Amino acid sequence: MLDLTGKNALVTGIANNRSIAWGIAQQLHKAGANIGVTYLPDDKGRFEKKVGELVDPLNPSIFVPCDVQNEAQITSAFEAIAQKWGRLDILIHCLAFADKEGLTGDFSAIPKAAFTQALEISTYSLVSLTRAAKPLMSQGGSILTLTYLGGVKVIPNYNLMGIAKAGLEMSVRYLASELGPLNIRVNAISAGPIRTLASSAVGGILDMIHHVEKVAPLRRTVTQVEVGNTAAFLCSDLASGITGQIIYVDAGYEIMGM
Ligand SMILES: NC(=O)c1ccc[n+]([C@@H]2O[C@H](COP(=O)([O-])OP(=O)(O)OC[C@H]3O[C@@H](n4cnc5c(N)ncnc54)[C@H](O)[C@@H]3O)[C@@H](O)[C@H]2O)c1
Repeated sequence: MLDLTGKNALVTGIANNRSIAWGIAQQLHKAGANIGVTYLPDDKGRFEKKVGELVDPLNPSIFVPCDVQNEAQITSAFEAIAQKWGRLDILIHCLAFADKEGLTGDFSAIPKAAFTQALEISTYSLVSLTRAAKPLMSQGGSILTLTYLGGVKVIPNYNLMGIAKAGLEMSVRYLASELGPLNIRVNAISAGPIRTLASSAVGGILDMIHHVEKVAPLRRTVTQVEVGNTAAFLCSDLASGITGQIIYVDAGYEIMGM
């Protein structure tokens, strides 16, 4: 029943084969979607090469740079979509960044520059990508972002990213309210801890994973593919009545009080 045939899906945030976005891209492709991919450009072109090779089996019809701090790159990425596809159905926002000094130590010590940068990249980018996607979602659409429990409850060391995720989750609700009349749904998956490039920057990520393995109802954490499966569901017509929601894909950890 889960069929995304003929849907055009743009996936942001693939850095390597551990990325949650890679798990999502594979499951969307499996369900029949046409895949477009953005990557974060760097001076030496390393990401372009690495991500390009990784996603090649999905035959992406769009492969463009997009640093979300660069408005011109956002504009040209969506121009490429308009030219190639004419219409966008699915937008996956699966990226975040906070400087190391915001991910360990005293919360009160977070410098203003680190705070602003984390919120710009991790939170505001959902707003700017949604604004660019909106005119292309002419037949409705589904926008999905990734969040974490640390945006709702205090998790040691998650610090600055907790603020970014709290803002992101509220952005999901405001965007869902604005875009609902256009039949564009906006949701978030709150994933359990997974070892990735980004999560390795959070102090004690392995301790977090081991704790979840002991306490979560399923006695394990989740995989990128499990997150990808829920993403494919949320982006499909099977989820046509769901918008503005934060869906936990965390082996049940969120329900536990102790
Ligand atoms: N790994 C976890 O435990 C976990 C749990 C819950 C939520 N998340 C969220 O999942 C999302 C993906 O993270 P991940 O864990 O797969 O790590 P990842 O390192 O694989 O992905 C993070 C991505 O953000 C991109 N990025 C950073 N700055 C950018 C910028 N300025 N412009 C464009 N892209 C930029 C990177 O290139 C990378 O592809 C993030 O929002 C993260 O907070 C992760």
